[in-house]
Amino acid sequence: MMNTQAKTQRFLTGITTSGTPHLGNYVGSIRPSVAASKGTNARSFYFLADYHALIKTGEPARIQQSTLEIAASWLAAGLDPERVTFYRQSDIPQIPELTWFLSCVLGKGVLNRAHAYKAQVDKNLAAGSDADADISVGLFMYPVLMGADILMFKANQVPVGRDQIQHIEMARDMAKAFNHLYGDLLVLPEALIEESVATLPGLDGRKMSKSYDNTIPLFSSREQLKKLIAGIVTDSNGPGVAKQTEGSALFQMYQAFASADDTTAMRQAYTEGIAWGDAKTMLFERIDRDVAPMREQYHALMASPEKIEEILQAGAAKATALSAPLMQALRHAVGLRKLQAKSQATGKIEVAKTARPSFKQYRETNGQFYFKCLGGDGKLLLQSRGFVSPKDAAQAILSLQQQGADALPALQSQLDTVQGVEISEIATALKPQATI
Ligand code: TRP
Repeated sequence: MMNTQAKTQRFLTGITTSGTPHLGNYVGSIRPSVAASKGTNARSFYFLADYHALIKTGEPARIQQSTLEIAASWLAAGLDPERVTFYRQSDIPQIPELTWFLSCVLGKGVLNRAHAYKAQVDKNLAAGSDADADISVGLFMYPVLMGADILMFKANQVPVGRDQIQHIEMARDMAKAFNHLYGDLLVLPEALIEESVATLPGLDGRKMSKSYDNTIPLFSSREQLKKLIAGIVTDSNGPGVAKQTEGSALFQMYQAFASADDTTAMRQAYTEGIAWGDAKTMLFERIDRDVAPMREQYHALMASPEKIEEILQAGAAKATALSAPLMQALRHAVGLRKLQAKSQATGKIEVAKTARPSFKQYRETNGQFYFKCLGGDGKLLLQSRGFVSPKDAAQAILSLQQQGADALPALQSQLDTVQGVEISEIATALKPQATI
């Protein structure tokens, strides 16, 4: 069967290379992803989204430095490049190529409704500026590039925060639109919302984020880490006065690193009026316990950029082994084909045997719903009778896509005979393709 749950699930996640990793990135993304990569037999894809970084910054040196820092952070945190596919987005030329293909099947209106773009437009309008002031086409296209990242590797699950769900839905829409036109080549991804993953507060209590300037770099020195933690905002209750855990950034940070038992103990200490200075020391020691061993590894990696480059090149080779053949199939599907394949006999472009069949669903003037199946060469293979409900027609298509010719007997009463088509021809066309 194709595209079903039975196959190994593929996880994919990217991180934009425009900044220095901070504790919020570690708790929200690096730590859970590295943990996930060690479990199960899922196939995981981790990449450095440096094309995305170009949308955010025009500083070349910063992008290079950030790429190095982020790669070193993931590796220091225990990501095993042998177990997963770890690569840099810009090493995979098929990604921008797929971005273009997707751009050509996606309605512009969908992008008009993207949150990040809309927020920028609203900001401009509120400031009395032109709606699109300072908005690059890159920012507008951001969801398409992200869709290409995901669809290029047939990812099933994409772990994301709530703010990114819309992007995954858009990726699904792009895949659907593409498959509808060109055959079932792209896999529809799903957002994996990790409710248990903490959002870390920053020094000022708001979400830790570079845009709030309230971060603690993941690989600060011990001294720097201590100093930054001392700067976490607290209330002015002195030692001996009971303290609230609710709304305490310090407590939430502690909780993100400590065991359940230690968290309970800290809660008790709050009630008993622990001094803020002591609570900060405990937080510092707890975080440093996790960070210290990685810190050493991180600095060793940062001192050998050529080693990281080598790892990324190996990752790119692994990734390209998947992206190149799929792109070949996609190019063929959309009609970007070598001309020498023109058949001598017919004078027509010969379509490779591997071209996928496509299903077209439509409504007739009698109000009923129909579908037909066309072979990769455009030849009519199946013609349905009328369905009262479009859902039933879609269900029939789905069963044909998933089960191939095995679905035919059950659908017999709903299909018209098509002259000059053998059952074997239909079976071959519907045969699930080998996984690319
Ligand atoms: N948009 C993500 C971020 O800013 C990065 C990203 C790019 C990504 N492409 C992706 C995440 C594909 C998941 C899947 O953090």
